[in-house]
Amino acid sequence: AEAYPKVKRNSKFKVLDAADIDFFRSILSSDELVESRSPEELASFNQDWMKKYRGQSNLVLLPNSTEKVSKIMKYCNDNKLAVVPQGGNTDLVGASVPVFDEIILSLKNMNRIRDFDSVSGTFKCDAGVVMRDAHKFLHDHDHIFPLDLPSRNNCHVGGVVSTNAGGLNLLRYGSLHGNVLGLEVVLPNGEIISSINALRKDNTGYDLKQLFIGAEGTIGIITGVSILAAAKPKALNAIFCGIDNFDTVQDLFVKAKGELSEILSAFEFMDRGSIECTIDYLKGLPFPLENHHNFYVLIETSGSNKRHDDEKLSAFLSSALDAKLLSEGVMAKDKADYDRIWTWRKSVPPACNSYGGMYKYDMSLQLKDLYSVSEAVTKRLNEAGLIGDAPKPIVKSVGYGHVGDGNIHLNIAVREFTKEIENLLEPFVYEYIASKKGSISAEHGVGFHKRGHLHYSRSDIEIRFMKDVKRHYDPNGILNPYKYI
Ligand code: MLT
Ligand code: ZN
Repeated sequence: AEAYPKVKRNSKFKVLDAADIDFFRSILSSDELVESRSPEELASFNQDWMKKYRGQSNLVLLPNSTEKVSKIMKYCNDNKLAVVPQGGNTDLVGASVPVFDEIILSLKNMNRIRDFDSVSGTFKCDAGVVMRDAHKFLHDHDHIFPLDLPSRNNCHVGGVVSTNAGGLNLLRYGSLHGNVLGLEVVLPNGEIISSINALRKDNTGYDLKQLFIGAEGTIGIITGVSILAAAKPKALNAIFCGIDNFDTVQDLFVKAKGELSEILSAFEFMDRGSIECTIDYLKGLPFPLENHHNFYVLIETSGSNKRHDDEKLSAFLSSALDAKLLSEGVMAKDKADYDRIWTWRKSVPPACNSYGGMYKYDMSLQLKDLYSVSEAVTKRLNEAGLIGDAPKPIVKSVGYGHVGDGNIHLNIAVREFTKEIENLLEPFVYEYIASKKGSISAEHGVGFHKRGHLHYSRSDIEIRFMKDVKRHYDPNGILNPYKYI
C-alpha cells in the first residue's frame, strides 16, 4: 500500500476513545460494530479493491437503520470524529477507505428492498443492497436495474449512486443523474433529508438529490435510493469482432447507431493489450475469434423480439464485414455464448490487476481523441524502457472502455508500484486530458487518487462552488476527509 507523504492527519479531529465506543455500543448491537484488536481484523475495510490504498481505522460501524446512521452522525459531528462512508468497497480511486483513523461507516447491514411498483417501475431499496441482489429481485419481476458493472457481485446500490458509476449500458439507459428518482440521505449533523417518495417529475425548485449523486460521501451518507427500473429485455444478443484501427471503430459505431438504433445497448472496445492480459488471466477459455487484432469491439443488442433482433444483428454483421469495417466477427449463438463474449470484456480489469497491481485512469474525451491518450502514455512508458518481461516493472499499458459514452479506461498493469512509473504518469496524463478538454474522471470519481487535480477539468469558479457546498453541508469537514474536496 502507498504511503501518503503529502497528507497530514488533521489534528482538529478527535482521536477515538473508550467513551466514544461506549456510546456506539449503547445504540448498536454486537453485530453492528467491529473494533480492531489487530490490523488483520479490519483489513478488508481499511484496504481498497486494488490494494493500493490502506487506512488505519480501528472501528467499523455497521448500523442496520437510517435512524442509527443519524444518531452516529450527530454524535460524530458533535465530537468532531471523522467518518468515511463505505459501500461494497469496490471503488477504484481510494474514495471508500479511510486515509488515517476515520471511523468506517459501512452500509452492509442496510440491505432491505423497500418497495417495487411494477406499473411505474419505481424500485426503492436501502443503500447497502448488493447490486447483484437488486438485479435478481428486478429480474424476477420482469424488470432490470438500469445499470450493470463488472463489480456487480460486491458493489452496493448506494455506493454506485454515491460515486455516480456509469457501467456497461449507459449508452442505452442513461446516467444515474437521470434514473435516480429520489434519495434518503443522512447529513453530517445527523439530519435526514429525503426525497425517496418523489415521483417521476418534480419541478419544484432545485433538484437537491443531484448533489449527492457522485459526491462520493463528502456531504451526506446515502441510506436509501429510489430508482427507475427498466422493463426486462426479452431478447439479448452480442457480437464480438476484431478491427484494425480506432478510426474504423468509430465508423462501426456510427453504423451501429444508424442500423441497430433502438436495440443497441452496449458498444465496448478493448485494445490488443487488454485482450492479451485477459487471455493470460482466463487460461484455457477458448477465444471467440481466430486471429488477433489491434482492437476488439463488443456490441450488444437488447429488445423484445428475438427473431427480429437476431436478423437485424446478423445483417449488420454481414454488411460490416462486406464494407471491411471488421476484419473478423462472430455473433453469439445462445445465452452461454453471449455470456462468454461478455466475459472477455468484464475480465479486463481483474486481468490487468493480476500481475501485482495497476495504475488506473478513467477519462472522457471526444471520440476522435479517445484512444490517443493510451497511445501517448504507452509511448512514454516504452521510451523509458519500463514495459516488458520481468524484471521490468510494467507488464502492459492497455486501453479499453465505453465507446458509446466517450469513456476510456487506461490500465497500466505492473509487477510493482514504483515512484518512477508514477512520475512518468502524473501529471502527464492529466495535462494531456486538459489539453484535449476532456475529463480526468468519466465514471470512477475523484476520491483520494485525484485529490488536488480537479482544476484539470473544472474551472476555479466551479471548484469554489463545490467548496461552498461542502462547507454548507459539512461545516466541521468530518465526512470523508482528505479526499477530493
Ligand atoms: C469497467 O468499465 O470495466 C469498469 O469501469 C471497471 C474498470 O475499469 O476497472
Ligand atoms: Zn467503465
